[in-house]
Amino acid sequence: MERLMFAIGALLLLNPEACSTMEVKPSANPAVVGQSITLSLSPPTSLNSGSWAVGDVFILTWSKLGDKDQVAVYPNYMGRASIDGSRALTLSSLSMNDSGVYTMRSTDPGVTASVKLTVLEPVSNVTTSSNDSALIEHMDTAVALCSVSSGSFISLVWFNSSSEVTANDRVQLTEGNSTLTIVKVSRHDQGPFTCCAFNPVSNATSNPVNFTIYYGPDNMNMTLGSHTTGSNVTAVCASESNPPAQMQWAFKEQLLNTTGSVLELYHVTKDQSGSYSCFAFNNETNLSRNVTGYLDIKDAISGSEQPTADLWLLCVLCLAGVAFTFSYI
Ligand SMILES: *[C@@H]1O[C@H](CO)[C@@H](O)[C@H](O)[C@H]1NC(C)=O
Ligand SMILES: *[C@@H]1O[C@H](CO)[C@@H](O)[C@H](O)[C@H]1NC(C)=O
Ligand SMILES: *[C@@H]1O[C@H](CO)[C@@H](O)[C@H](O)[C@H]1NC(C)=O
Ligand SMILES: *[C@@H]1O[C@H](CO)[C@@H](O)[C@H](O)[C@H]1NC(C)=O
Ligand SMILES: *[C@@H]1O[C@H](CO)[C@@H](O)[C@H](O)[C@H]1NC(C)=O
Ligand SMILES: *[C@@H]1O[C@H](CO)[C@@H](O)[C@H](O)[C@H]1NC(C)=O
Ligand SMILES: *[C@@H]1O[C@H](CO)[C@@H](O)[C@H](O)[C@H]1NC(C)=O
Ligand SMILES: *[C@@H]1O[C@H](CO)[C@@H](O)[C@H](O)[C@H]1NC(C)=O
Ligand SMILES: *[C@@H]1O[C@H](CO)[C@@H](O)[C@H](O)[C@H]1NC(C)=O
Ligand SMILES: *[C@@H]1O[C@H](CO)[C@@H](O)[C@H](O)[C@H]1NC(C)=O
Ligand SMILES: *[C@@H]1O[C@H](CO)[C@@H](O)[C@H](O)[C@H]1NC(C)=O
Ligand SMILES: *[C@@H]1O[C@H](CO)[C@@H](O)[C@H](O)[C@H]1NC(C)=O
Repeated sequence: MERLMFAIGALLLLNPEACSTMEVKPSANPAVVGQSITLSLSPPTSLNSGSWAVGDVFILTWSKLGDKDQVAVYPNYMGRASIDGSRALTLSSLSMNDSGVYTMRSTDPGVTASVKLTVLEPVSNVTTSSNDSALIEHMDTAVALCSVSSGSFISLVWFNSSSEVTANDRVQLTEGNSTLTIVKVSRHDQGPFTCCAFNPVSNATSNPVNFTIYYGPDNMNMTLGSHTTGSNVTAVCASESNPPAQMQWAFKEQLLNTTGSVLELYHVTKDQSGSYSCFAFNNETNLSRNVTGYLDIKDAISGSEQPTADLWLLCVLCLAGVAFTFSYI
């Protein structure tokens, strides 16, 4: 018994709320604008008369007369507030103004209980826009804006495809993240970028913003090989470029009539050996690059000597490989 008294005493010291044994339990907190909320009392107790109020404003009162309940709803809450037999308050068509401290005061028996309720507006209509969608790499700045029609306590986060955008020396997030600025865009910044708005009761994602980024030509290469007289040679020139680069070929520094990324040479002769160049031009970035390769045309070796020689060489190499492996074991 003594021990129990001590335990209750300690509980009261630690938590003065423990005095009032009754609690208000909201069906949701935060609650959502337009929806309904029920504030239940726990533990269930028979309460003969009392009131519900938010702050200083009364919502309703009740009293038990004989075996009948009399409930009086204040005019501001007419049609929107009701209680049930357990004195749980139901409030419908919530607005943000319904946020506040809700208190139930019972006079018979004397009990008070309260709870702080927050009503939030869900996020709606998240849209993105950008003023400029065609940009030149390493020069232009991309700007995208995110706007939200309604919602309370909104946080904004941007996504680049599926990964979250974080600020760095090139990427700025300003105006509470509503403005995304990419300084000196790169070819990897085309997006799609989406903006996600969220608050504790909802979230919504915007339409995507894509940037067209012009870059290149760069990282050029040409495939040419060793060929024999009479064979057909296909030379391919590649570059990274947006829009695709316009290409022009040259042989020994003389421009050829061939344009496009593929140069076909049919039944080549020895005098077609030499340097082949490919010139690439991007008409949006106004940049040009070139790459040069050497075509080496040898006389075709009659019979099967050449493949045999190749096979022989391959065998030597493979034996060397085996020997190497063995010496390692
Ligand atoms: C909420 O309160 C503000 C001012 O306190 C008032 O102007 C507004 O009309 C109220 N809104 C609703 C839905 O009651
Ligand atoms: C959505 O937001 C855009 C831009 O803020 C606005 O023009 C449009 O009217 C809004 N639509 C709705 C349904 O609220
Ligand atoms: C786009 O908006 C940014 C910031 O508002 C501005 O600096 C830039 O000049 C704009 N670009 C165009 C093409 O309007
Ligand atoms: C802004 O975006 C960053 C990065 O996604 C995020 O950590 C931060 O919480 C956001 N801030 C606001 C106010 O939404
Ligand atoms: C977008 O993602 C790509 C990788 O997928 C990355 O290279 C680029 O820097 C990102 N851009 C921004 C603005 O986050
Ligand atoms: C967004 O809302 C959906 C339900 O509408 C929920 O399942 C999801 O977890 C929420 N995401 C975030 C990041 O809050
Ligand atoms: C942006 O790009 C994505 C995928 O890359 C595509 O699904 C979407 O339709 C594009 N949006 C616009 C407005 O071009
Ligand atoms: C070379 O191209 C010509 C024309 O397309 C074709 O007739 C010929 O068979 C090709 N020769 C070889 C060795 O592929
Ligand atoms: C040649 O360049 C293209 C484009 O720059 C690239 O996709 C390709 O992998 C390159 N090939 C080689 C063999 O380097
Ligand atoms: C390129 O074409 C022009 C006419 O279109 C022709 O006169 C000229 O000889 C051609 N040059 C070469 C190297 O084939
Ligand atoms: C670049 O060339 C393409 C076709 O090759 C054309 O459609 C485009 O308008 C040109 N752009 C400029 C800026 O000249
Ligand atoms: C070809 O490219 C080299 C650099 O790679 C450059 O020095 C040269 O001027 C270019 N040639 C032409 C004709 O543009």
